[in-house]
Amino acid sequence: MPKVFVTRRIPEPGLAILRRAAEVKVWEEELPPPRDVLLNEVEDCDALVPLLTDRVDDELLDRAPHLKVVANYAVGYDNIDVPACTARGVLVTNTPSVLTETTADLAFALILAAGRRLVEADKFLRAGRWQTWGPTLLLGQDVYGATLGLVGLGRIGAAVARRARGFNMQVIYHSRHRQEGLEKELGAAYASFDELLHRSDFISIHVPLTAATRHLFNADAFARMKPTAVLVNTARGPIVDEAALYAALKTGRIAAAGLDVMDPEPPRRDNPLLTLDNVILLPHIGSASVATRTRMATMAAENAAAALRGELPPNLVNREVWDRRRA
Ligand code: NAP
Ligand code: GLV
Ligand code: GLV
Repeated sequence: MPKVFVTRRIPEPGLAILRRAAEVKVWEEELPPPRDVLLNEVEDCDALVPLLTDRVDDELLDRAPHLKVVANYAVGYDNIDVPACTARGVLVTNTPSVLTETTADLAFALILAAGRRLVEADKFLRAGRWQTWGPTLLLGQDVYGATLGLVGLGRIGAAVARRARGFNMQVIYHSRHRQEGLEKELGAAYASFDELLHRSDFISIHVPLTAATRHLFNADAFARMKPTAVLVNTARGPIVDEAALYAALKTGRIAAAGLDVMDPEPPRRDNPLLTLDNVILLPHIGSASVATRTRMATMAAENAAAALRGELPPNLVNREVWDRRRA
């Protein structure tokens, strides 16, 4: 029987699929396996199912001579050094599509909550500070009819655009390639990054974390946004320069932000963003619905099981490894 190491207890239907294909070992703790434990566990593994908290790099791969597949329990795979896996013939898979609508729901929730100051208002009431209905109490930004700038119009960005239509929003987007089919379907218009920064009332980030997107939102980007703008990030923390975001929120350079992702995760207790009322901070719960986390588990497991059977995994990231093997 091949061996698989799963770095946390994922929903049971996923583990059931893995058990039919391999001898399964699960890290049962709530916190990630310490690095030395992970490096020891992969030594005799044929498959690894990591979470986005587990780094897969040269050091790990050097310790895992039998490893055939890394089946990430996430769609984003910036925790994995894909070129290093490819160089060693290790297949890398992810969990696209099953979490798209759940994550788009959360992005839209942050657009509404940050725009209309919901969390701040709830805290205000609970603190006993609400004395009367007031003409200028907790005023925010209108979502209905506003201009929404999407950075990335892939699966999740497009799903957010579909929601925005119901709010009569003007949708503009930026990505490296234009999506003319989607532009028609969604009524979305392409914009340069600079134009998107200038025109948007709300900006929602839906690009992967790569060398090109790291700190895409820096002091220079905030300087070009409207003072009433609201930034929402459900992609990856390091796409936003948090020190620059703090300065922009503190000085009123932009109005508000809603973050599901931070850099690092969890934030340090002395992270100054924790002191601000005009930012909503969530502990990376974009895909966190019961149904979606279960589908992610079966998807990651099916990817790992297929690779162990010598079949093409349905959600292969590094196709070159497969093509090279067939050649
Ligand atoms: P996707 O379908 O691959 O879409 C990514 C989009 O980003 C594409 O439109 C791509 O278009 C664009 N892009 C890539 N590099 C770019 C660059 N340098 N500049 C501008 N645009 C760029 O991915 P998805 O499924 O929507 O997921 C997006 C990300 O969301 C994931 O990578 C993950 O990090 C994050 N995520 C977070 C959660 C959460 O729990 N908060 C849940 C799911 C996903 P071009 O190639 O044309 O540029
Ligand atoms: C979650 O952040 C994912 O990439 O699936
Ligand atoms: C507010 O509650 C209003 O009636 O305008």
